[in-house]
Amino acid sequence: IEKIILMLILAYLLGSIPSGVWIGKAFFHIDIRQHGSGNIGTTNTYRVLGPIAGTIVMAMDISKGAVATLLPVFFNSNLVNPLLFGLAAILGHTFSIFDHFKGGKAVATSAGMLLAYKPSFFFLAAGIWVVIILLTSMVSLASIITFPCIAIATFLVHDTYLFILAVILTIFIVYRHRTNINRIFHGTESMVPFGLGNVL
Ligand code: G3P
Repeated sequence: IEKIILMLILAYLLGSIPSGVWIGKAFFHIDIRQHGSGNIGTTNTYRVLGPIAGTIVMAMDISKGAVATLLPVFFNSNLVNPLLFGLAAILGHTFSIFDHFKGGKAVATSAGMLLAYKPSFFFLAAGIWVVIILLTSMVSLASIITFPCIAIATFLVHDTYLFILAVILTIFIVYRHRTNINRIFHGTESMVPFGLGNVL
């Protein structure tokens, strides 16, 4: 049980690492929380600091979720479902101990959890996400739509634990995107400079 608590704390701390803030400060002397949407995730890093920084932050945030989910393997302990550690990392990312218990919108870290737990769901999620971005040019809309799709997919293949978590994450991600949703309805959501959303 001590091992499980230690692993949960480790997963939370790992998730807490505010990649976007640290990369911005270390390499650009810019606090991305003061620019663009103010979010610390991949999209706002890309928006404010460009594609290379955005890609690095995406890779780091995905890794946080993946490594946390793999902790039971590293610690040789399979007493509880590894999704629990992925969830701890997601909570770390959104309520970060290094950022006054604020944080991101849970998308990349959740994707990392999928990658470590069932890679096929990660690639399904990534595919849906990319297609919706290309169709609408809105990353937020893609993020909001992807997780309900994963919930449906996990339901169809009877992956009960992942289904329950996907439903919880769907609700949580929609909630974290409430300001984006407001902007989408008002037609003021920011778009990436590619995809059909710019021409339609
Ligand atoms: O995952 C975050 C993305 O869906 C939206 O980011 O910066 O446009 O609020 P942002």
